Amino acid sequence: MSVPRHVAIIMDGNGRWAAVRGMARIKGHKAGVQAVERILDEASALGIPHLSLYAFSTENWKRPALEVAALMALLRMYLRMFVQKLQKRQIRFHHLGDLSGMPEGIQRDVKELERLTAHHTGMTFHLAVNYGSRSELVHAARACVLDGLKPQEITEQAIQDRLWTKGVPDVDLLIRTSGEHRISNFLLWQCAYAEFFMTDTLWPDFGPEALRAALEDFSSRERRFGGL
Ligand code: IPE
Ligand code: IPE
Ligand code: MG
Repeated sequence: MSVPRHVAIIMDGNGRWAAVRGMARIKGHKAGVQAVERILDEASALGIPHLSLYAFSTENWKRPALEVAALMALLRMYLRMFVQKLQKRQIRFHHLGDLSGMPEGIQRDVKELERLTAHHTGMTFHLAVNYGSRSELVHAARACVLDGLKPQEITEQAIQDRLWTKGVPDVDLLIRTSGEHRISNFLLWQCAYAEFFMTDTLWPDFGPEALRAALEDFSSRERRFGGL
């Protein structure tokens, strides 16, 4: 089985997972965080160098204030709890998204977790919170202007170097759970040649076997990158 260098996952279906059980949506999000823990273990054991998980999009602020507040509280709690796991597995933590638009406490916790895990030697775990690909591209374009680049200096590399994924390889495999077949503003630039794997499994039910099945499927794809 060939191991992709970068696996990105759109973790979708927490709300529906709770709904079919007659539970509040937040219970689905809690179950979703447990799935994150299992996938972190499996992905790092499989030797995947980069794992990007989409947790909260720039569009998710449109949700009811109560759900947003509960998600932020859950995030804050887990950012603190993740420390031990990340140390044990030597996983580096990296946030993707616009940190300045996040509550101050979360900004501090994110920076602290990045600092504490910066020297780790294993997988890099990119957590996308307040992430939107279009917003990322706008930031990159503005950075090109602020850096005083001339038009001919605005190359693909120049843009890539100003994305939040600077230095991270393109996505090889994009997984989306819950039966939706859309990208929802996730890593548009980085997924230019990604292989897509869509599954009906709801995120809280997505476990190690499901990840291995996606990797098996990925191994059988013939990637041509526009060549022959
Ligand atoms: C994904 O689950 C988590 C977030 C987007 C925060 P959803 O909350 O989108 O769950 P569904 O799609 O409503 O089932
Ligand atoms: C995508 O899920 C965003 C995350 C998983 C964080 P959504 O549930 O927000 O996406 P749509 O609205 O179905 O496209
Ligand atoms: Mg959803």
